Amino acid sequence: MPEKYIVKKSGVYWPSKAMKEIAYVNSEEIYKEAAKDPVKFWSNLAETGLLWEKKWEDKNAYVEKRPYFWWFKGGKLNFSVNCLDRHLDDRADKDAVIWVPEPLDEKPVKLTYKELYKKVNKFANVLKSLGVKKGDVVGIYLPLIPEASIAMLACTRIGAIHSVVFSAFSADALKARLKDGKAKVLISADGYYRRGKKEDLFEKAKKAIKGTRVKKVVMVSRLNKNRKYSGKFLSFEKLMKDAPDYCHPQTVNSEDIMFILYTSGTTGKPKGIIHDTGGYATQAYWTTKWNFNLRDKDVMWCTADIGWITGHTYATYGPLLNGSTTLIYEGTPDFPRPDRWWKIIEEFDVSVFYTAPTAIRMFMKAGEKWVKKHKLNSLKILGSVGEPIDEEAWEWYLKNIGKGRCPIIDTWWQTETGGTLINVLPGIGPFIPTVAGRSFPGTSHLILDDSGKPVKKGKTGFLVQESPFAPGLLHGVYKNHKKYVKTYWKKFNNKYYDTSDGAYWYKGLLRITGRTDDVMKVAGHRLATAELENAIDDSKIVNESAVVPIPDKIRGQVPVAFVVLKSKEPVDNAADLEKQIKKHVDKKLGPTSRPARVYFVEDLPKTRSGKIMRRILKNILNKEEPKGLMTLVNPQSVEKIRKIVWGN
Ligand code: WTA
Repeated sequence: MPEKYIVKKSGVYWPSKAMKEIAYVNSEEIYKEAAKDPVKFWSNLAETGLLWEKKWEDKNAYVEKRPYFWWFKGGKLNFSVNCLDRHLDDRADKDAVIWVPEPLDEKPVKLTYKELYKKVNKFANVLKSLGVKKGDVVGIYLPLIPEASIAMLACTRIGAIHSVVFSAFSADALKARLKDGKAKVLISADGYYRRGKKEDLFEKAKKAIKGTRVKKVVMVSRLNKNRKYSGKFLSFEKLMKDAPDYCHPQTVNSEDIMFILYTSGTTGKPKGIIHDTGGYATQAYWTTKWNFNLRDKDVMWCTADIGWITGHTYATYGPLLNGSTTLIYEGTPDFPRPDRWWKIIEEFDVSVFYTAPTAIRMFMKAGEKWVKKHKLNSLKILGSVGEPIDEEAWEWYLKNIGKGRCPIIDTWWQTETGGTLINVLPGIGPFIPTVAGRSFPGTSHLILDDSGKPVKKGKTGFLVQESPFAPGLLHGVYKNHKKYVKTYWKKFNNKYYDTSDGAYWYKGLLRITGRTDDVMKVAGHRLATAELENAIDDSKIVNESAVVPIPDKIRGQVPVAFVVLKSKEPVDNAADLEKQIKKHVDKKLGPTSRPARVYFVEDLPKTRSGKIMRRILKNILNKEEPKGLMTLVNPQSVEKIRKIVWGN
């Protein structure tokens, strides 16, 4: 019988004796200890968790000059050494990465630490031979294949800054990111498999680099092994064959930039979130270890794509820093059938499984029969991330995947925080649906009202983080100081980091209510209404648009667009135009951003100062009586929109 890791006491789940026994952390004392001196606490974690070439002086463990701050200033290390070299003594033949391709007739690839080490060293030499130096930005536009981890690690080996762009993003989205980061080299692939179909990346990469500073593109041949490349395009396989086996690791400062990752904010343009090396590594190492209680025999599967922060920290770096095994899967969850994921868990003895509520809801819809085909006895801990998980999905996850024996660790965090920050630790509990938990030891969050005062018990307010700020927290917006200050610090006068999430206290734990700004979470993906509006407005036929999210049973939220066309003619081919707009969004941003519905309207509700009142559009979509019409300059627009949406 598989071990039971949770017990129910008075209606609430707690860790069982078996979980307490295997847990790294099983006493609440840790929170108190850490709170006494967070800097000392984190310094100790940094020192014991990582391999440093040079230690920092105690007085520089944490230096703060808000809104900037530095951890382990003066400390020196190499990130790839921490993921690879230091495991070679006792884990050389252990699997570091297990890759499952989508086609069932293709064999999974397992890379041991020794093999991964060699490939990373070789590719680091390839990058060097292409002129990449410490501090240069390298773009990575790859699907979920082992070469993605190899490319990322190779950048860290030579101190280059990687900027990974989600492979389902469009050429235009890639171009914007390459331009902003001034990337010299791009690493991409000819394509990948998605739902049994070949998806092309080559044409997109080719289009994207036009007008950028990219001089060379290294292409992994995923679909066609014999593909020939020319001009700026070079073959990954060919370059690897000729590259030397060893690359001396470049020493970097703890506070040097390790990577940038673009994410959506409230404006139309994505921001390049900066993460440093030592602080990020410390938080990645310890949150992976403690949240998922990773032991040597564990196989961790975080289903996120490397294009997102979750894929960076928990599908790649966290498990490797810990000398663990990470599993990555190329394809869609339900291909060829809705039991694909459960089959993978069974086949590879996955013990830690970390996914998003939107996936859980999709499987709920597919039905329990698909899960029942597989035992899932290897599972120990389940994780959830990306959006608030509703009670129904939580219960289903626990019952059907966890078989009532595995705790669910609901982790709240952001691209900006680098690693998880609010969750329950598996050996401590309690595990309560919809409640994320507590601030990770050594960090602290408050819930404030508009005036910056803590809210009364049970009241919803703004979730902020207080000093000392977590080691993994962002270190700026790439080449944009103003945006950094305005987005994260201005609201509370540089005193707190503003998360842009709402929350309230529930029995001493934090319950997250969702974004307080114009950011949506669509199937766990982060998307700004302004970004989508910009993309739609860019269409030749559009005059202006407004986008609002509406709740969706599977995807959490989906965007709905209200579009004013340039032509004043009545719209008689709405269905065609809707398709045209959706196609345009696919081209500008990628299909993940595609609006669920497009309504063509004559006018958008606006205030006297010209501000679009999205709240009123939301009211209409939710079939609520629109409020606040008094402030509008064109109240008559509302009735017309209502008719279009409600149908008379
Ligand atoms: C939301 C993903 C509730 C939140 C790691 C945050 C969550 C945004 C949770 C960041 C959770 C993430 N419960 N909400 N467990 N995890 N969020 O940058 O609104 O893609 O601000 O990072 O996701 O999204 P991002």
